Amino acid sequence: MIHMRTDDPVYHEPVMIREVVDALACKSGGLYVDCTVGGGGHSMAILEASSPGGIVIGIDRDPEAIEAARTSLAGYGDRIHLVRGDFRDLLEILDGLGIDEADGILADLGVSSHQLESAARGFSYNVEAPLDMRMNPEAGVSARDIVNGLDEDELARIIGEYGEERFSRRIARFIVRERSYRPIETTTQLVDIIKAAIPAAYRRRGPHPARRTFQALRIAVNGELDALRELLEHSAKALKPGGRVCIISYHSLEDRIVKRAFLCMPLLEPVSGKPVTPSAEEVDRNPRARSAKLRVARKVLHPQKGE
Ligand SMILES: C[S@@+](CC[C@H](N)C(=O)[O-])C[C@H]1O[C@@H](n2cnc3c(N)ncnc32)[C@H](O)[C@@H]1O
Repeated sequence: MIHMRTDDPVYHEPVMIREVVDALACKSGGLYVDCTVGGGGHSMAILEASSPGGIVIGIDRDPEAIEAARTSLAGYGDRIHLVRGDFRDLLEILDGLGIDEADGILADLGVSSHQLESAARGFSYNVEAPLDMRMNPEAGVSARDIVNGLDEDELARIIGEYGEERFSRRIARFIVRERSYRPIETTTQLVDIIKAAIPAAYRRRGPHPARRTFQALRIAVNGELDALRELLEHSAKALKPGGRVCIISYHSLEDRIVKRAFLCMPLLEPVSGKPVTPSAEEVDRNPRARSAKLRVARKVLHPQKGE
């Protein structure tokens, strides 16, 4: 039984905790890497399941996440090591800590509830905020730079490819027209442009009309798919033979990349063909879990697949 602390305001409700601990086959004294430590929910579950003596390396590129995890995991002393960094640099991060191989690697992709709900970060189409969307607020280009700087074709490509948005061309055209009058600075300004671009009949059904475009911009701003590809590429090298890599994804673009990597990479073998999904009870309690898919692979000693 895993006891989660309930005294702090909830930074992020972790998804499929029991399933993750089972998938990692956590054992006492094992060494695990949580590539997306966030508020520390999954890390705490892994620390409990690997006690006594299990170690967790918790990585996040958001300084606010590292601070939140530092507080929530303080009771685990030197069993937790927090590193601010990008999981695409997994091998360098482990090397810097003098670690060769881990028993398990977890990545719970996307943004945390804390990031979504922090108005100033600009991730949410429901909150008026500057258009930012950077997970690491100190580096890289913001959504504002992309929306005001890219040409119409490139904007349409990003919105179509990363948002799987059927009206990507119209949205790009409306953005370019609007910014010829004034720069697009805020989330609500962008939401209004998207609403104007999507035909009324489509706006009335399905999810929020800005959901796909916001997803696309977030993926582009944070280079999310490239970071995931690099993590998958390096994960076998960072694992002991028999060690497991677990990835929780929230949309089909990510899930496709994970599924393909587990099938194609010579030293990884999927533990099952089908992803693990949350129970109906969990989805009822935490609607954010609805789209979550957990895929698990183990490192094999001898490649079984033709390269
Ligand atoms: C869904 S939340 C993880 C929540 C966490 N499992 C928990 O229990 O609180 C995703 C986190 O991953 C971080 N993140 C996303 N991409 C990253 C990357 N390439 N490198 C490091 N951290 C990343 C985000 O900043 C965010 O804090």
